[in-house]
Amino acid sequence: MKEGNKISILMIYGSPRKRGNTDELMNRFEKGLLDNKNMDQNNLLIDKIFIKDLKFSPCIECRHCSIDGECAVKDEMQGIYPKLINHDFIAISSPIFFTSVSGYLKAFIDRCQRFWALKYELKKRIIKKERKGIFISAAGSDSVTIFDCSHKVIRALFDVLYIKYDRDFVYNKIDLKGDILKHPEALDEVFEYARNLIIE
Ligand SMILES: Cc1cc2nc3c(=O)[nH]c(=O)nc-3n(C[C@H](O)[C@H](O)[C@H](O)COP(=O)(O)O)c2cc1C
Repeated sequence: MKEGNKISILMIYGSPRKRGNTDELMNRFEKGLLDNKNMDQNNLLIDKIFIKDLKFSPCIECRHCSIDGECAVKDEMQGIYPKLINHDFIAISSPIFFTSVSGYLKAFIDRCQRFWALKYELKKRIIKKERKGIFISAAGSDSVTIFDCSHKVIRALFDVLYIKYDRDFVYNKIDLKGDILKHPEALDEVFEYARNLIIE
């Protein structure tokens, strides 16, 4: 969130497995940010959401948001919405579960229906800024198409949040906890991206 000259980055962790493969990639992303010379480190804010720790309901499809753009379900998602609106950059991660994002992340995304209603039904723009975002993922299989469904889901989310899908970091044949640590090239790729990131 912009506070004076501060640059704020939101990191959304979508895996149920703590310190699993996607968590490790996200943590490398954070390390890269902390080593970024393009940003004034004193003005860098990093905000993290671990979806598995959030207490929230899936979308109940009451369609209240079609009326006024607000979500009628009053739970911890209400505290998340301002973060989704105001942060300058968003990194989101998920393991591949049954060819898509994790159930935790999907439920979280469904609760963003209010942003879809605002943009496409109510035609009201409450997110003024164009931001950039990335998606980080890992899958056990070696199929190159295994990330296709998740790309669509993330693209749909980024669209309603006015986020440009800058790029993704997706890795195959990463299954057991810690597998990603055997792939320093993957961790380095994420680190270097974050280290060189420029946020206007
Ligand atoms: C419930 C479940 C479903 C999964 N479904 C798939 C799948 O459809 N395709 C695949 O390649 N890997 C699948 N996997 C493997 C995970 O994507 C893989 O273990 C990943 O590295 C986990 O990331 P994490 O440690 O960040 O949670 C599945 C794992 C679980 C637990």
